[in-house]
Amino acid sequence: MIIDDEDKLRNLLSRIIRLEGFNVRESSDLKTARKIIEKDLPDVILCDVKLPDGNGVDFVLETRSRHPTVEIILLTAYGNIADGVQAIKNGAYDYITKGDDNEKIIPLLNRVIEKIHLKNRVTRLEKQFKKNYDFDNILGESPLILEAVSLAKKVAGTDATVLLMGETGTGKEVFAQAIHYGSKRRVHPFVALNCSTLNKELLESELFGHKEGSFTGATKEKKGLIEEANTGTLFLDEIGEMHIELQAKLLRVLETREFIKVGDTKTSKADVRIIAATNKLLLNEVNAGKFREDLYYRLNAFTIILPALRERKSDIPILANHFLKVYAEKTNPPVKSISMDFMDALKIHDWKGNIRELKNIIERSLIVSNGSELTTADLPMEFSTNDSKSNNLSAFDLAGVEKLHIQRVLNHTRNNKSETARLLNIGLSTLYRKMEEYNIP
Ligand SMILES: Nc1ncnc2c1ncn2[C@@H]1O[C@H](COP(=O)(O)OP(=O)(O)OP(=O)(O)O)[C@@H](O)[C@H]1O
Ligand SMILES: [Mg+2]
Repeated sequence: MIIDDEDKLRNLLSRIIRLEGFNVRESSDLKTARKIIEKDLPDVILCDVKLPDGNGVDFVLETRSRHPTVEIILLTAYGNIADGVQAIKNGAYDYITKGDDNEKIIPLLNRVIEKIHLKNRVTRLEKQFKKNYDFDNILGESPLILEAVSLAKKVAGTDATVLLMGETGTGKEVFAQAIHYGSKRRVHPFVALNCSTLNKELLESELFGHKEGSFTGATKEKKGLIEEANTGTLFLDEIGEMHIELQAKLLRVLETREFIKVGDTKTSKADVRIIAATNKLLLNEVNAGKFREDLYYRLNAFTIILPALRERKSDIPILANHFLKVYAEKTNPPVKSISMDFMDALKIHDWKGNIRELKNIIERSLIVSNGSELTTADLPMEFSTNDSKSNNLSAFDLAGVEKLHIQRVLNHTRNNKSETARLLNIGLSTLYRKMEEYNIP
């Protein structure tokens, strides 16, 4: 949209811009311009300064605060740079001198359009991201998970340090991401670091960064993850594994947001929100002298306990059906449903690997299955035989024990018959006979 009360110049500009394939609307005063904007917001506005019913520089501020996505280029009078400068302060994209800079208009417009495309892409990706990491992705209706989600939602909007406690596969990382994407830091980085995979020296330099030459191999100054996560969130996974000397340094970060890079003499600062996770009972670590008590209490100020799957078995159908849907889209022909016996087997399983294990079991069963329904036959061997309930042979029956044992060894050798026979110390033909007798596929 072009706003200018000089008809000749406005028409000229309009022609130049139209020739490039843009749609152009024109207005000779601000009142009409506002009406057009309310009806159909343009991408870019070219605006004169002196208009019959107001000033273009003020109009920039007004429009940008009402419509932050619109880009404005101010058309200034010759020699009046001050207007242009003020317009930029008010949020204009740029300014050009009227009548003098006509050949600059098209390249400038192309740059603005590129910026708009980029912005739209970022917005789209952000929405997608939010959808992927939203609290809505945390499935489950059992009281324990609802309680955890409700606590997480409450703390998300604050800058408080959060400690997520739960067994492996209970969703600690999922929660950490949901908290970050549910906070005002969502447009800033989410940086994750697993404290158990690096030794003390490497973890320190990874976390805090290092100066050039601070140790052999430190050829360049390197930013630590705390700095990478500046203005965002730092997720410290398996915090219980952090070396006790580093724990002191982390405590300092939590208290003052200050830290010292490896090999540096001065302190650095970073604005990070910390979310920590552990699958250990940290209090036990404190009692064993492996975890600093002060750090423990600092972290423990806001703890969210993620329930083990065996503590919320009522959620198994929801989760199983969810993963079924996710993976079934990838299999051909699609497997549609879960049989009752399959679901029952899932319900009596112990789920030491929690949701991750459930997800893997569903994926695996879908690969194995050839029917339109998942049945216990699609479950891995150790799965159905681990639970005496799902095993129809009595645990004390000698034949039952023999069958079970053969199945286990077959499983161990990944169905290699001769290796299984060797381990069982029987001949290969005997193994085949027994497999037939016990109906082992
Ligand atoms: N409530 C949930 N609803 C749906 N999927 C979930 C839920 N919780 C976890 N998951 C899925 O389970 C898997 C394990 O989750 P995640 O990696 O967050 O666990 P974790 O607690 O960090 O495990 P670990 O301690 O082993 O690192 C992921 O694939 C995740 O998408
Ligand atoms: Mg994890």
